[in-house]
Parts: sequence; C-alpha cells; structure tokens
Amino acid sequence: MSNDTQQETTFEVRPTSHPRTREQRAAALIELGFGTVFSDHMAHATWTTDQGWHDRRIEAYGPLSLDPAAAVLHYAQEIFEGLKAYRHEDGTVWAFRPEANAARFAQSARRLALPELSEADFLDSIRQLVRTDMEWVPNAPGSSLYLRPYMFASEAFLGVRAARRVEYLVIASPSGPYFTSGFTPVSIWVAEEYHRAGPGGTGAAKCGGNYAASLLPQQQAYEHGCQQVCFLDAATNTYLEELGGMNMFIVTADGAVHTPALTGTILEGVTRQSILQLVTDAGHDVHERAITLEEVKAGVASGEITEIFACGTAAVITPIGVLKGTGFDLTVGDGAAGTVTNELYGLLTDLQYGRHDDTYGWMTRLV
Ligand code: COI
Repeated sequence: MSNDTQQETTFEVRPTSHPRTREQRAAALIELGFGTVFSDHMAHATWTTDQGWHDRRIEAYGPLSLDPAAAVLHYAQEIFEGLKAYRHEDGTVWAFRPEANAARFAQSARRLALPELSEADFLDSIRQLVRTDMEWVPNAPGSSLYLRPYMFASEAFLGVRAARRVEYLVIASPSGPYFTSGFTPVSIWVAEEYHRAGPGGTGAAKCGGNYAASLLPQQQAYEHGCQQVCFLDAATNTYLEELGGMNMFIVTADGAVHTPALTGTILEGVTRQSILQLVTDAGHDVHERAITLEEVKAGVASGEITEIFACGTAAVITPIGVLKGTGFDLTVGDGAAGTVTNELYGLLTDLQYGRHDDTYGWMTRLV
C-alpha cells in the first residue's frame, strides 16, 4: 500500500468542548443517507494576500461568522472537492487517491482565481480531521466518511476582482448511498434546453456555480419522473457531456466501454479516471470520444448499447435503467444493472474497502 501514516502535522488540533456522546454518535450513524450528518470537527485555514496560508487548525464543527459583504455571497468565487474515508475490516481508515483530488483542487483554484493550496496541506487537513473524528467513520456495508474540502472568498468587498481573503475548510459527513435506492438503476432526463458549461467556461473546474446551473434542469428531471439530468454540449446540443454531479459511461454489445472525451467543459472525475484504468486492465476496449445523443438513442433502441452507468465519488457506480428526453423514453438493456456495471462496481469497491490488494497504489492510510 502506498503512503504511510507518518507526516509532520501542520493542522493544529483544537478539540471541541462539546463532542457528542457515544450514544448520540451511534444514533446519528443509524440508517445513513448522503450529506445530512456531520462529525464533531472541521479543518480550517485562512489565506490573505499579506500572509498567505495561515492559522491551519482542526476546530469544533459549527456555524461560520461571515460578513454579509463576503465576496462569495455575491460573485460565487468558490471551489470544492469530494472524497471518502473508508473503514477496512481491521479497523484502519483509508482514502482513495486523495492526491488526485488535491491536484484537481489546485486546478479549480487557478480557474476561479483563488490561491492554490499545496498537496501537503490538502492531505494533512484530511488526515488530521479523520484522525480527530475517527469514531465518525461508519462501518456499515457501503458506508464511508464523505469528506468535503472547499475554499471560498471571505473578503468583505463588492468590487468584482479576486478576493484578498479566502477560507479553506474540510467538513466530514458519515454517509450511505448518494441515491436512496442504492445500487439500483436510476433514470435520466436529457436536458436539451439548458447547458451546464460552455467552451472557455468553468465546466472543468469543480466550482459551486456549475452545480447551481444544474439545479433548474435537475428540477425538470424530477418533474419528468427522473432522478438525474444529463447535459449536452453547449456549442452544438449534440454530444453527451455529463450528469448533474457525475460522469457517464456506455457499454456496447461487444463489451467495449465508451465515455465522453474531456473537452474542457466536462469535469475530470477521479472515479472516471480510475474506471478507465480498471476496464482497460480487465481487457475491455475503451473509447474516450465524442458521443452523440442520436447514436445513444439509436443504440439503446436497437440493443447495440447494453448498459449505461453514472460514476462519481458520491455516486460510486450507479446503473442507469432509463433514458428519457423530449420525444423519447428508452429502457437500457432490461432496465437492470448490467454485467460490466456489476463487474466494475465490484472491482472498485473491493479496492476501496480493502477486500482486494491495492495493486495500483491508490489507497492512502489515514488512521
Ligand atoms: C462527488 O461525487 O463527490 C461530487 O462532488 C458530486 C456531488 C455530490 C456534487
């Protein structure tokens, strides 16, 4: 396994004076959904143009004090990440490819004119937070401690320019499946009227604004009886891009696996990258390419496309059973999770939960 637990501490632990009791914690960890329960502490550091990053600490989880003029509230200068801490059977706790999240966080920071946080700070904030709140890492099957690092402009200033004061935080949320249905197929609504990102925009950055833009089309998906929305490219309204908060893959009858190529408007998912590696090593033909909605509609209707699935840190791998849009309503395969989707879910989660040797060196021990 890569990366041992020894590293100099930079995030100083300042324990909360009001931790929840063992009984309160046990009650909070029953029947976990996604993103509703939070642990006792959070990581926090501040950046200013004068001092750079400073005051790195692990402190009590609680409300922030923010000036009403804080720039993030007006101009959405904000980025975030999502990764998980997994409890293995022997009680140790591990993160999956956290250095990939650190690298993407730095890329997102550059795009949003925010200061970069070093990989060492990113990893240390996570390590110290998870060590401090290790009792909050659940052990129910399929559960994990979802970690949400984020950064935002806290300077009180209404002019439109990059902020001179910024906060970095990590909060931790013991979580079960993202979709309440778990590993059962979801239905997708293809939005043709709205787009998530355009050429030269922020589509490849993980910033809150991209998700805000997805909310209205996501509501339309619900109105059409679907759980997720799928976006097409803004330039031609032709090619599949991604879902509201996850990437997507298609499997054809010959066992080949296809996913939209990165165009600058698609988020480069860590799970997406890992799946590309896993399917290649499992002997499938893999194609990162432009995929049109028309070919997907025709392929699902003819049976040439046998499986479609979504992937992301929160969603892991989620089968897609139905693809709907204006004038079409198609069931993918027999509507159930397909063979390749099942195979990949097994390969990925076996690695993450330590049931399989980490031959890729993707896991980092936290506790
Ligand atoms: C994740 O998969 O971690 C995401 O960021 C997707 C979503 C919950 C916003």
